[in-house]
Amino acid sequence: MNYIGIDLGTSAVKLLLVSEEGKILNSASKEYPLSFPKPGWSEQDPEDWIRAIKEGLKELLKDSDPKEVKAIGCGGQMHGLVVLDENDEVIRPCILWNDGRTQKQTDWLNDVIGKEKLSEYTANIAFAGFTAPKILWMKENEAEKFEKIDKIMLPKDYVNYWLTGVHSCDYSDASGMLLLDVKNKCWSKEMIEICGISEEVLPGLYESYEMTGLVKKEIAEEFGLNEDVKVAAGAGDNAAAAVGTGTVKDGSCNISLGTSGTIFISSDHFSVDKFNSLHSFDHANGKYHLMGCILSAASCNKWFMDEILNCDDYQGQQEKICDEMLGRNDVYFLPYLMGERSPINDTDARSLFIGMSMDTERKQMYQAVLEGVAFAIRDCLEIAKASDIHIEESMICGGGSRSALWRKIIANVLNIRLSIPVSEEGPGYGGAMLAMVCDGLYESVEACADQLVKIKAYEEADEEISKRYEERYQKYRKIYPAVKQLYKDLKS
Ligand code: XUL
Repeated sequence: MNYIGIDLGTSAVKLLLVSEEGKILNSASKEYPLSFPKPGWSEQDPEDWIRAIKEGLKELLKDSDPKEVKAIGCGGQMHGLVVLDENDEVIRPCILWNDGRTQKQTDWLNDVIGKEKLSEYTANIAFAGFTAPKILWMKENEAEKFEKIDKIMLPKDYVNYWLTGVHSCDYSDASGMLLLDVKNKCWSKEMIEICGISEEVLPGLYESYEMTGLVKKEIAEEFGLNEDVKVAAGAGDNAAAAVGTGTVKDGSCNISLGTSGTIFISSDHFSVDKFNSLHSFDHANGKYHLMGCILSAASCNKWFMDEILNCDDYQGQQEKICDEMLGRNDVYFLPYLMGERSPINDTDARSLFIGMSMDTERKQMYQAVLEGVAFAIRDCLEIAKASDIHIEESMICGGGSRSALWRKIIANVLNIRLSIPVSEEGPGYGGAMLAMVCDGLYESVEACADQLVKIKAYEEADEEISKRYEERYQKYRKIYPAVKQLYKDLKS
């Protein structure tokens, strides 16, 4: 028996074929375009996801018997607004999680409705990337299209809809819409009213490991699958990655270095941090989590290498940054290429380098990019610490975690031990695990994680290096407050 895990990412979809013993039998990855129609906007065509998944599925299943597949689970980029008309046709391109067009609507929600009320209704305050401010943006700016809305979905739910014909959403992903009462696991009547929509346009809610439907007959035929292949509700990519790295126990932590960077703290109990600046969401194991999300993590690395150095030898460039240099860099970088979510919630913020002198070389600037991302994640960790949450170790996953140098920087900037799982394919592997629980192979997500998630190596913080980074971090954290107003003045 095999299971398919789908990771619907921002730049590509990754599919995994996983045996019931948890072995990755095959994988396929297909890219799709991301468009930035205006500065700070970020969109994608949902049909591109489906095209990529179709191609990916063919490649994934070509060397094995598709009839062995028992269930499918998807982890997907969160918060994206997918809108369908009464014929289930997509009305406009999806407005993604890292789109910053909704500052006005976000401010209105936080200042006029008020953070306290929002937190009472949903456990969260408004962030520009969340789905509800995007609905308000459409209402204000695309009234005709807004009127046509018959269904509102998140990206991975569009994939699940394509697979099953069922409009569904799981609690972890729904949490990021600012429409869900996270504590009580139901749609918030107040938020529905504030957004001017009806509850009927929202999908049915499920636990991530519950089945929403079986694959449609025509899809089963196209890919040679059995007609009884189950589709699990799936999860937001961070909750799926947490499952994939075994981050399902109370207080356990996962750091993901994908396009975005997240620090995810699993919890058995519902809670909200002191400043309400971490996301308080449901988890894919039926419980809860707190999460900080920085909008640009591995994307800073890619941007600096592709656009600035014009070089694809990542390893070669990183090898120039030796241990002696760690914690001794006078150059600092703010990683706000797409504005920033946690904890500063500022769509106008942008990246900057500061501290260069005539002897600065490209390696110090590159180091500053990797360090800037680590410092931004530390900013999120500080919020957790202020709420008496103490993290001493964390799992790490995502493309960026393959860099030994970056892992070392993160371990030392955060002064924690990092555990590197055998499978770094967080959301895809988590998706396959949810499919296994959905199929009844395991009685719970925890039981599945206990059995399947293995650690292959650790990255320990070094006393000397983390001391040096502590000093650097205290300097780094002064930069943003000093330029905060300037960003507003510079805005064109
Ligand atoms: C989480 C978030 C990102 C996306 C990236 O809140 O916005 O991590 O899910 O795929």
